[in-house]
Amino acid sequence: MENRVLRRIAKASAALIAVVILILGSSYVVWARGGLYSSTRHGDPTSGVRRDSALPRGDCGHCHSMHGAGGTTTDFALWTADNNQLCFTCHFGQSSNAIYRGSSVYEQSIHEDDSLMRWPGPEPPARMEPDAKGKCVNCHTPHGWGDSKGLMPTLLFKREEELCLGCHKVAGSAQEKIDTQMNYQYTHQMTNSQLEGRHHASEEIIPDSFSGQNRHNECADCHNSHVHTRDLHTQGSNRAGGVLRGSSFIEANYGSLPDTFPTFQPRGQIFDIQFEYQLCFKCHSYWAYGSFPPFAPSGGQQTDPSIEFNPNNVSSHNVIQAPNLNGIGVFVNGWRWDFQMVCTDCHGSSNANDPKGPHGSQLPFLVKARWDVTSGQRTQNTSSHLCFLCHDFTTYAQRNDNRNTGFSRNNFGENLHGLHANEDNPVANRPIGCMDCHSKVPHGINRRALLVTSSDPARLLGGTVLLKQSDVPNWGPSGNWDEGDCTVVCH
Ligand code: HEC
Ligand code: HEC
Ligand code: HEC
Ligand code: HEC
Ligand code: HEC
Ligand code: HEC
Ligand code: HEC
Ligand code: HEC
Ligand code: HEC
Repeated sequence: MENRVLRRIAKASAALIAVVILILGSSYVVWARGGLYSSTRHGDPTSGVRRDSALPRGDCGHCHSMHGAGGTTTDFALWTADNNQLCFTCHFGQSSNAIYRGSSVYEQSIHEDDSLMRWPGPEPPARMEPDAKGKCVNCHTPHGWGDSKGLMPTLLFKREEELCLGCHKVAGSAQEKIDTQMNYQYTHQMTNSQLEGRHHASEEIIPDSFSGQNRHNECADCHNSHVHTRDLHTQGSNRAGGVLRGSSFIEANYGSLPDTFPTFQPRGQIFDIQFEYQLCFKCHSYWAYGSFPPFAPSGGQQTDPSIEFNPNNVSSHNVIQAPNLNGIGVFVNGWRWDFQMVCTDCHGSSNANDPKGPHGSQLPFLVKARWDVTSGQRTQNTSSHLCFLCHDFTTYAQRNDNRNTGFSRNNFGENLHGLHANEDNPVANRPIGCMDCHSKVPHGINRRALLVTSSDPARLLGGTVLLKQSDVPNWGPSGNWDEGDCTVVCH
């Protein structure tokens, strides 16, 4: 009995091979001898594919017709049509690491849905069949694919960002092109070959995966190809855009103390991310690197944003914090004091026409617009600098009285931002700029309005700082500042 089955398989496999050799010519023979298939999860004899209980696990016959040359009408002698339904016979539900969440979630994702979603070639060749759109085999091969480094992980036919950029490049099939950002001077390291091969499908929720020798950043760390939609975040909200749906993330629970990191709750891909910062904290927080943050490609040791954006700090950009300016401030481009924010409101490409997201920038620290010691100095034209994407240039950087800012005297009677913009920094002997009073890392600090004093950590000090720690206790309420509040050289 057993022998008969084996003989049947041998005969059927021979028939199948005959068919595919007819289809493909001799290249297949070389491929078959390469033996890649048997080292894939599909070909594994103990845990591989299984549809027909008469066949051993991993057998080709679970997908290809056992009757081969005899009357098969489907492409490649498959037992059913060459489309996602074939994959769904086994991949109906969620995968081992829950990166793939099952057929119904996949069918709502942009990669299933978009008519342009087809592999453009040249390697492997462009998909030409009319129903190619949205097929799993635009990204995966059921047999495994190799290069000089061996078998590619996860039955993919390109490694890491090369898969994504195959379509998301200027000559690719997708509308949103990310490759130009990969060539900017400052990138998020996806194409850094020294960090290649570190990403693994089973790495999530383990901090070590994202620190030390494992530290890396790949497209699949932030985007889940089987789940995400195409919507971006909404201006004024700190919620994550649909493009991040299905990526793993970190929940941060803050107690009531300022200046401390939160308790972290890692979440795998099966959960839905709510806030964009939850994604960033996976790599940019105590959870990943403990109390020794890595060095930034743009220079210096990083600060920990999970401490800076602690909502108990007196001031921060509202990535987590609830609005607290109570109507103070003059905003532009639709921004308002009671808006919340995402990290990528500031971190993204310096070219406003590029696709959104923190992929690369021509400016250090992946910021969208310039921010340096000259920002706000009256002798420089800095109206295009970062702060003025949202804060009114005239109010903060030009002599202009009676505008609504907390840095005013006589109960909002005179705008001291305007007054100072007209003055020189007496220590540096040049016009005053924003960094002479505000933190160079404009995230958050346990003091009013991101103000720094000369005794703060050097990383926060970008200008020639005017405030001293001893000035701080004298501060009155917003709108009621006076010369005596700050014992700087000038007053
Ligand atoms: C999990 C299902 C599955 C298994 C198992 C499988 N195949 Fe396939 N095979 C496919 C699909 C689907 C296609 C069509 C791929 C496409 O459209 O790109 C295919 C296509 C092929 C082709 C055509 C060229 C190519 O590579 O796309 C050959 C040859 C082939 N299979 C041989 C085999 C052999 C030999 C085995 C066993 C060693 C095997 N297959 C196991 C699903 C499978
Ligand atoms: C006959 C059943 C069957 C069919 C049909 C099938 N698969 Fe699988 N697939 C499996 C099994 C079993 C595994 C291994 C699961 C595991 O080890 O957790 C697997 C694993 C995978 C993996 C993960 C591989 C890895 O290394 O982590 C991918 C990707 C995958 N399949 C894609 C596909 C695609 C695309 C199709 C359709 C072309 C397909 N599968 C069709 C049974 C099947
Ligand atoms: C746009 C590209 C793309 C498409 C289309 C795609 N996948 Fe994937 N898939 C990936 C990538 C990339 C990974 C690896 C993710 C990682 O390493 O974090 C993956 C991983 C997987 C895994 C392993 C998941 C795990 O938990 O370890 C399975 C199973 C899978 N895909 C099945 C499918 C099936 C079935 C389809 C079609 C219904 C499909 N994929 C369509 C890109 C794609
Ligand atoms: C086979 C081609 C193809 C591959 C491979 C591919 N994509 Fe896409 N992707 C598309 C198309 C087409 C869209 C629809 C929108 C567009 O044209 O840009 C899309 C949409 C997206 C979106 C939603 C935002 C938008 O532009 O609408 C994101 C995010 C995305 N892809 C990321 C990735 C990542 C990450 C990978 C690699 C894991 C990847 N893609 C691989 C073709 C592809
Ligand atoms: C999967 C890990 C990962 C995730 C998630 C991640 N980053 Fe990064 N990021 C890195 C790595 C790796 C670097 C390079 C330096 C380092 O090791 O920190 C980096 C560097 C940076 C830098 C400094 C760039 C420079 O040129 O100095 C900024 C700014 C940054 N990330 C912002 C973000 C933001 C905003 C998010 C969330 C939208 C985010 N990152 C999510 C891994 C990640
Ligand atoms: C209001 C704008 C803004 C927001 C919002 C913002 N950043 Fe930044 N971030 C900056 C600027 C500007 C710098 C560069 C400071 C400099 O030039 O030294 C920076 C620097 C960084 C760095 C490098 C830090 C260092 O100390 O070297 C990281 C990492 C980073 N940001 C991550 C994040 C993350 C994660 C979020 C959200 C949780 C975020 N940023 C939100 C403006 C912002
Ligand atoms: C560190 C996290 C991170 C990495 C790594 C990353 N992205 Fe993104 N990406 C984002 C975020 C965040 C957004 C959306 C920002 C928003 O909501 O405005 C985005 C947006 C996108 C969009 C939509 C752009 C638009 O304007 O519609 C595409 C397409 C995309 N990413 C593709 C990729 C590809 C391809 C890679 C790898 C080369 C990649 N991403 C790597 C975080 C990341
Ligand atoms: C993308 C828009 C955006 C950018 C860019 C931006 N801000 Fe803001 N900023 C806001 C919003 C909205 C608020 C009010 C809500 C809040 O407190 O976060 C705010 C608040 C502030 C506050 C008061 C924070 C508090 O909690 O008291 C200061 C100070 C500030 N910004 C300075 C700056 C400086 C300096 C820059 C340039 C490095 C800058 N901002 C860039 C949007 C932005
Ligand atoms: C001489 C010190 C000084 C300089 C220079 C300065 N600020 Fe301020 N700024 C303050 C003080 C003090 C506050 C706190 C106001 C309060 O008590 O509410 C403040 C508050 C702010 C706020 C919070 C909203 C508001 O209107 O109160 C923003 C936004 C801001 N500054 C932006 C800027 C920008 C942009 C620059 C550069 C053009 C700048 N500041 C330069 C001292 C300064």
